[in-house]
Parts: sequence; structure tokens; C-alpha cells
Amino acid sequence: MSSRVNILAPDFRADPYPVYARLRREAPVSLVDPVGMWAISRYEDALYVMKNPQLFSSRGIMAATEPPWLGRTNPVSDSLIAIDPPRHTRLRALVNRAFTPAAVARLEPFVRTVVEELASKVVSGNTLDFVETFALPLPANVIGELLGLDVSLRARFKQWADIIITAATLPPDAVELHDRMRNTLAEMDRYFHEVVESRRRQPGDDMVSELLRAQVDGQSLSESELMGFFYLLLLAGLETTVHMLSHCAIMLARKPDVQARLRAEPALIPRFIEEVLRCEPPVHSTLRVTTSEVELSGVKLPPGTPVLVLLASAQRDESFCPNGDEFSLERTNQGNMAFGHGIHFCLGAPLARLEARVALEVLLSRSSGIFLRQEQIQWNLAPTARGPVVLPMEWKPR
Ligand code: HEM
Repeated sequence: MSSRVNILAPDFRADPYPVYARLRREAPVSLVDPVGMWAISRYEDALYVMKNPQLFSSRGIMAATEPPWLGRTNPVSDSLIAIDPPRHTRLRALVNRAFTPAAVARLEPFVRTVVEELASKVVSGNTLDFVETFALPLPANVIGELLGLDVSLRARFKQWADIIITAATLPPDAVELHDRMRNTLAEMDRYFHEVVESRRRQPGDDMVSELLRAQVDGQSLSESELMGFFYLLLLAGLETTVHMLSHCAIMLARKPDVQARLRAEPALIPRFIEEVLRCEPPVHSTLRVTTSEVELSGVKLPPGTPVLVLLASAQRDESFCPNGDEFSLERTNQGNMAFGHGIHFCLGAPLARLEARVALEVLLSRSSGIFLRQEQIQWNLAPTARGPVVLPMEWKPR
């Protein structure tokens, strides 16, 4: 390929898939801008990276979340997602104690109540921003409930998450933005400390109390590990789910035949969600750094090389999924990487799937037609997650 791809260029953000296809064909391991990382676009190579944490360290995520100008520790940089075994193994076992499938299943009635309430506003026949009225408040409420956080703060979550997610892309001379980032981290620190203190004084049956009780081999989570986990849940669990719900809504609006089929056969909703996650994964890529010299698709990468694993490209690779650019409800989608693969496989996958299933069951049963009211979608600018910033839509009531 002649020129380097810029993964933050607006044209690329609007439709990255032709570029991914070209990369897979012509340059499966190649340098991309803006930060000069090596992009891995083929399924087989992506799987190899995700399966071999001893060769591809998750400290690559730390480099992106803790630039030198920050002048302090960003708790995300030392959280589950950014560390390697053996620390990762211990920490994951501890948080698994609190984040069990049974704990997630217990949330279904709460999720349904929130969905019903939000759906009454959305399915109105009026043009509304779907992100603001549904896709954001649903996961914000669910994470708030999960952590037992104050309801009044839920609107702040997205602001917090939006600000701290920009750490990787702020220019070194953007002094005002650096200050804003530091102030946000201080505000989050204060709030999370208060939550922990109140649960220590009065434990309940929320996840924070469960995390405080969790022990593996006589060890529990340290204060900083607990903080790191809170930050991570907010970052990993909010924006991703917002984008997933938005991508589902866009796909339904663009495919009236699929809408009709799902209304007639709601049992197909989970399959629809998996296919949307394959075609439009909210996490387009994740980061790693090589620990020793490795060779991928004939390209030698020295130790310390930052690697961008293009999950969204891998899932459309012909060798993995024939006609990968086409959406099809007939696929079974074994081996998707939308939630990652291997030791860092998404802890929140059952929760995200639950939220999407309940949301679509309710929204589809209440509506008779779904329409995008702005064909040109405005995409977010972030190196790893991809989704619309606003989504004017009309959901016609039955
Ligand atoms: C559709 C929504 C979601 C998507 C697409 C998604 C995607 C991912 C991916 C790709 C990874 C692996 C990253 C890597 O290996 O570098 C991951 C990890 C993780 N996700 Fe999710 N996620 C979603 C929702 C959630 C939710 C709702 C939560 C929690 C409330 C969550 C919590 C986590 C955590 C804690 C990890 C780190 C696991 C570890 O490092 O062991 N995610 N997620």
C-alpha cells in the first residue's frame, strides 16, 4: 500500500472496511498513523496475538493510557485489562468472584424495568437522538446499579469516561485538556473512595461489597486494585455497550426485512446481536506490545513494538467468514472476537448480551417501523472504540 492509513481520519472512520480489506490483501502487518503502531488485520494473525500473552503483552494498553504529561498514575493503566500473568491471573480470579453469570442474571429484572421506561420515551413517533435517550442511559444505569453508585451521578459517568478515554490522543502541548484530565481523575478518585468507605462501614449485596469480601488464597483486592477495577468498569462497560446498542439500531433501520423477521421470531434476537457484533464491533481494535522478536505474515517485529489488533478486520476476513462484509442472520458466528479472546476475554460479555437482548425484545415489540433521520452518521474519534456520537432516529409505535 502506498500511503500510511490514519485510523482517526474522518473518511476512514465513516467506512473503514474497504481499507481493512486492502490491508488484509496487501499489507496484513503494517504501520498506521497517528501514533505509528503496527496494525494486524488478518484473522489468523489476530488470533495468534490474542492467544499468546507471553509474546504480546497487554502493557501496550498502559502506554496508551498513561502519557508522560499526566504526571500521575492513571488507575486504568494498572487495571485488569492492562496487566499480564501472573498478576492478571490473581486479579481476574478475585473479580470473577463478584462478577459471576448468576450475579448478571439477577440483574435482568432491573434491566427490563429501565428498558421499559426508556422505550416509552423512544418509541414515540418523534425524531430523537437514540444515543442520548436510550443507548447511553441504559448501560449507565446498569453499571451504576452494579456498583451501587448514587443515581444522581449517572449522568456524569459518560463525561468521566469520555474525558479519560482521550489520554492516548491528546497532543503533548494541549495544556488545558491535560488539566481537565487531571481534574477528572481527581474527582473520580474522590467519589470512588467515598463509595468504598461507605460499603466498608455498611456492606450490602452490591458488587462493591462483594469485591471487598472476595478472597483468593487468603488474599483480597488492595485499595488501588479496587480503584483500578472501578475505572475499568466505567471505561470498558459504558462506551462499548452504548455503541453496541447504536449499531443494532442502525442495522435494524437499514434492514426492514430483518426488523420484520425479528418481530415474527424474537428467538432470533440473540443471533442478530452476534452478527451485529461481528459486522460492527464496538471495539474495533485493541493494543499489545511485543515482548520478544516475533514474525507475523512474514513481517519481523522487534521486542517493544506497539501492535494494534484490528478485531473488526479479523472478523470480516474471508478465511474466517465467507462474504464477511455481508450481514447475514444465517451465520452461527463461532469464534468471533468482538469480546476479545483468551485470558482477557471480556468479563462483561454476558451483561452486554443481556442488555442488548432485553432492549431489542422491548423496542421491537413496541414499534412498527424504525427510521434513521440523518443518513450521514457522525462517528466518534477514538483509536479503539467506534460508534456514532449522535443518532437522530424515529421509532414508530405499533
Ligand atoms: C458490547 C459491549 C462490550 C464489548 C464489545 C466489549 C469488548 C471487550 C474486549 C474486546 C475486551 C478485551 C480487550 C483486550 O483483550 O485487550 C474486553 C475486556 C473487558 N471488558 Fe468488555 N466489552 C463490552 C462490555 C463490557 C461490560 C458491560 C463490562 C462490565 C461492566 C466489560 C468489562 C470488561 C473487563 C473488566 C475487561 C477486561 C478483562 C481482562 O482483562 O481480563 N465489558 N471487553
